[in-house]
Amino acid sequence: MMARDDGVEVEVAVEARAQLGEGPIWNGASGQLVWVDIMACRVHRFTPDAEADESADVGQPVGAVAARTTPGLVLAMRDGFGVLDTDTGDVQMIAGAEAHVKGNRMNDGKCDSAGRFWAGTMAFDQSPAAGALYRLERDHSVAKMIQGVSISNGLCWSADDRSMYYIDSPTQGVDVFDFDAASGGLSNRRRVIDIPKEAGLPDGMTIDEQGFLWVALYGGGAVRRYSPEGELDLTIELPAAQITSCTFGGNDFRDLYITSAAQELSEEALAAQPHAGALFVCRPGPAGLPANPYAG
Ligand code: BGC
Ligand code: CA
Repeated sequence: MMARDDGVEVEVAVEARAQLGEGPIWNGASGQLVWVDIMACRVHRFTPDAEADESADVGQPVGAVAARTTPGLVLAMRDGFGVLDTDTGDVQMIAGAEAHVKGNRMNDGKCDSAGRFWAGTMAFDQSPAAGALYRLERDHSVAKMIQGVSISNGLCWSADDRSMYYIDSPTQGVDVFDFDAASGGLSNRRRVIDIPKEAGLPDGMTIDEQGFLWVALYGGGAVRRYSPEGELDLTIELPAAQITSCTFGGNDFRDLYITSAAQELSEEALAAQPHAGALFVCRPGPAGLPANPYAG
């Protein structure tokens, strides 16, 4: 298969200058794109119809966010899992994860079809193998699912719910597990996509209706679409190097929202990349799949 050239027009949805924009999910119930700025400790809600972005300080680094079947948003935070009351801005912790590991924080996370919230950790200083992937159950208990993770990223599930895709960024690729939706169990880990170092670090990821994977490339200034067999299909170039994650949203699930980071860029680099830290949007064609809410 020949990789297609981009040609996809990208717009800035929010000129946010986020330090570490991350974790975009479409909240169908509110018609909003919810995302986080991890190091700024902020949860953002962007309403495309109003072209308005609002954000709340949640008091500690926040790696991921998900909708709930009840009001509020569930958060994967430095010390564990919390619930944000979007009316009052209050955050209530509901479960600990690595509160005792001071050098770690949560990174990417998402909910499975049974309403469990999966989120992983990493060291602030990116020490290898310091993190893990956790599964928050509906009853608020927490299970450690993968150990020895360096930068936990990019999880998503296939439409038939039998596979979970996962990225540990420094391994330069995407792995897949057999997924058991009834128990939330993982087995049979194997590599499906290899990404060359020159393309950047694989970061956040989403899946479309055709089962193709969209991978954000940190340092690579792009989002790439891969077939489930690991073949490169399409590259979307972005006007910022540190691309962190992406997800489909909008009324028809064909708007691809893309987050980015302005952290660690010199004055010079920022001048050359004035849109670093923006939330971008484009319409590359395929529709995505709705995000699952947390059911606890
Ligand atoms: C992390 C960043 C990291 C990047 C590289 C992101 O998910 O939040 O800290 O630099 O991945 O892959
Ligand atoms: Ca990420």
